[in-house]
Amino acid sequence: MEIIRVEHLSKSFGTLEVIRDISFSVHQGEVLAIIGPSGSGKSTLLRSITHLEEVNGGNIIVDGMDMVKDGIYADKKSLRSIVLKIGLVFQNFNLFPHFSVLRNITEAQIHVLGKPKAEAEEKGRELLKKMGLDDKAAAYPYELSGGQQQRVSIARALALDPEVLFFDEPTSALDPELTGEILKVIRELAAEKMTMVIVTHEMAFARDVADRVIFMNDGVIIEEGWASEVINNPKNERTRAFLKRFSE
Ligand SMILES: Nc1ncnc2c1ncn2[C@@H]1O[C@H](COP(=O)(O)OP(=O)(O)O)[C@@H](O)[C@H]1O
Ligand SMILES: [Mg+2]
Repeated sequence: MEIIRVEHLSKSFGTLEVIRDISFSVHQGEVLAIIGPSGSGKSTLLRSITHLEEVNGGNIIVDGMDMVKDGIYADKKSLRSIVLKIGLVFQNFNLFPHFSVLRNITEAQIHVLGKPKAEAEEKGRELLKKMGLDDKAAAYPYELSGGQQQRVSIARALALDPEVLFFDEPTSALDPELTGEILKVIRELAAEKMTMVIVTHEMAFARDVADRVIFMNDGVIIEEGWASEVINNPKNERTRAFLKRFSE
């Protein structure tokens, strides 16, 4: 079953075409990795599907519902419920600095989903436990390491029970020794069959954890296939040149 279907998507900033005629699908329970050089439009693609950017053309269908059709957005109410199906974890965590860890996780549950505070807190504590952060509920983001902050932001995204979770370079802002703890959490979510789309430069991780890989360059999909195929045995010259940088 397709959770996300993107067809002929395009997005420009002024005269700069950043996404050009992109089409792909994400199936329930699969992990899709998106790789590609800096500036190729990976973040813009994720931000477009999560409605942080408005696209110029094409279709986005989420769980069978039209979010955008021929560049025209669904009405506000539908759009809100569609966007809620997708969680996003940012490169730089984007936690609220003036809220405790627990409140970072309960805020949207209470104010977006309308859950009672006690229920939101229970879910928050459960997720913190899952992230190995039971003892950090009352801490503030600045008191945590980058890896811990990123785990809080994953808990925050999971708190809204998304159908699919997007990660935009979730380990890029971390010191190398903290990368592993985030990759481990993502591996665990993959084992639970969470549907995920992960933009990453961790090629070994993408090969091991992702089912499929998309290679983007200059706003287009250059190559797409099974993770081991694309990463171990890329067919396109540009994919090969890109991956070579990671094997040296
Ligand atoms: N808000 C914006 N306004 C103008 N240009 C942007 C904006 N966001 C991204 N871009 C440009 O779009 C291109 C793709 O950026 P991005 O999606 O961040 O690529 P990636 O995530 O693959 O590094 C880049 O040329 C970038 O400068
Ligand atoms: Mg990016």
